[in-house]
Amino acid sequence: MQKSIQNIIQEAKKIVFFTGAGISAESGIPTFRGENGLWKNYNPMELATPKAFKENPNLVWQWYEFRREIIRKAEPNIAHKTIVKFEEFAKTYVITQNVDNLHNRAGSKNILELHGNIEKNFCSVCGKRYDFIVFEDKLKAPICEDCKGFIRPDIVWFGEMLPQGIYRNAIYHAENCDVCFVIGTSGLVFPAANIPISAKKHNATIVEINLESTNLSEISDFFFLGKASEILPKILPQMVN
Ligand code: OAD
Repeated sequence: MQKSIQNIIQEAKKIVFFTGAGISAESGIPTFRGENGLWKNYNPMELATPKAFKENPNLVWQWYEFRREIIRKAEPNIAHKTIVKFEEFAKTYVITQNVDNLHNRAGSKNILELHGNIEKNFCSVCGKRYDFIVFEDKLKAPICEDCKGFIRPDIVWFGEMLPQGIYRNAIYHAENCDVCFVIGTSGLVFPAANIPISAKKHNATIVEINLESTNLSEISDFFFLGKASEILPKILPQMVN
């Protein structure tokens, strides 16, 4: 007989939350795919590749300033905050594809950002860091004070490698967790989508929360159809009762 989700999460010593843009949708941050997704109206090849930045650094900078403006006005929602509460009951790791910094602002302790963080920047030439700095000029890519190279956001662009230490660490936690929640992601972008796949291969229970079935639904042991901010607060009490 299949164990109930309540039994499984109560027994879990280590939980991974693998999150995507859908978890921040209710904070007012647009997702990438689907009807109102960013990639429906904007071409990622013109905005989120090393080639795009080389050809038009100012346009790429403006794109990230546009997104920063939305993100800075947003607040973590109940889903981000509920994840923090799981830390009381099990070792909890958040492995996110999101660059919006909202897990951090919600107070999660162990966060692995696979695709970078929109509040961090570095010089594209010498690598000097410019993290958590608000640049005055929203229209022009800033210039490095040391080498005069263009400063770029610390975001993984299409065609770039994921930060290898972070990815390896994420795979390690996926392989060693008991439960892997998959929340608000289409599961279409690799290698990030390997996280729940690795967890499954190592016998974790996969619990998916989404508004629709996804690329990862076939490996899910439990699927909850609905908004992350409505479903997660209903699951949390099952850790205790
Ligand atoms: P997507 O836009 O591909 O998918 C968002 C998912 O969230 C969809 O499956 C929606 O059904 C779901 N969703 C929307 N609102 C939700 C809600 N309130 N509750 C639960 N689910 C909801 O976003 P990602 O999978 O995160 O890469 O995209 C992966 C990567 O593609 C991003 O990290 C980004 C993008 O190109 C980089 O920036 C490098």
